[in-house]
Amino acid sequence: MAPRADYGLDAPGVVRNLALVGLTGVAIFASIAAGLWPGKVPLGGGGVLEVGSMALSVGLACAGMALYMAWSSRFGKVAERERLLDRLALKGTERVLDLGCGRGLMLIGAARRLTTGSATGVDIWQAEDLSGNRPEATLENARREGVEARVQVQTADMRALPFADASFDVIVSKAALHNLYARAERAKALAEMVRVLAPGGRLLIDDIRHLREYEAELRARQLTDVRRLGNPLLEVFLAMLTWGTLRPGVLTARKA
Ligand SMILES: C[S@@+](CC[C@H](N)C(=O)[O-])C[C@H]1O[C@@H](n2cnc3c(N)ncnc32)[C@H](O)[C@@H]1O
Repeated sequence: MAPRADYGLDAPGVVRNLALVGLTGVAIFASIAAGLWPGKVPLGGGGVLEVGSMALSVGLACAGMALYMAWSSRFGKVAERERLLDRLALKGTERVLDLGCGRGLMLIGAARRLTTGSATGVDIWQAEDLSGNRPEATLENARREGVEARVQVQTADMRALPFADASFDVIVSKAALHNLYARAERAKALAEMVRVLAPGGRLLIDDIRHLREYEAELRARQLTDVRRLGNPLLEVFLAMLTWGTLRPGVLTARKA
């Protein structure tokens, strides 16, 4: 049996840092509990800060987040991709483009649903965004999933796509657009998506933040059926838990 596809660990540096903070917090608590030191830090004005419970709660929260991100990269994101692709109800004949395809999570998932269609992935292969991020890894995953004949990858920046206008029937992008840190740069990428999408074509963006901004940008570019999906309660909960860093959501739209 061929080994299963490996879609990599998202944001490996963030996972490592969260795990380190988690271990440090638990170690501080354990050292106080074991009586190695009193765990009291003097503050100006005669006050004392008890660090034990604070270190434990920050440590557990960070370790929990690191474990969740590792689980999600290995298992959760494959299940999530299937739910997202179900929404597109592909006929099988579409030309699909995946922007920031990484090791091919959406690209290969879409290709598995195609018959005569094609799936093209574009990326600049940033190592800090995904472990083992290389075009060879994407093609190897396509081979493992038996869809290599329908998949191609290209090295290109999503802000300057090397495709003619109206080249694709479906465009997907998962956890990629937020890696452009300036709003103007994200707007450039969205403009490129709209340009290469064929009339009647559909767009699906899944990202960890900026969904409202994408929605406004797509509406301004006359896309129709612009819809925000996802769980608003989960979005608020995650935003509170992560000090606003994570506000995940999904957006779908159609070009008239
Ligand atoms: C967190 S990974 C997600 C990969 C894949 N979509 C997935 O869900 O597994 C983000 C991807 O976006 C890519 N990326 C970041 N900036 C990009 C840009 N300007 N153009 C194309 N790809 C980009 C990174 O190289 C990385 O592969």
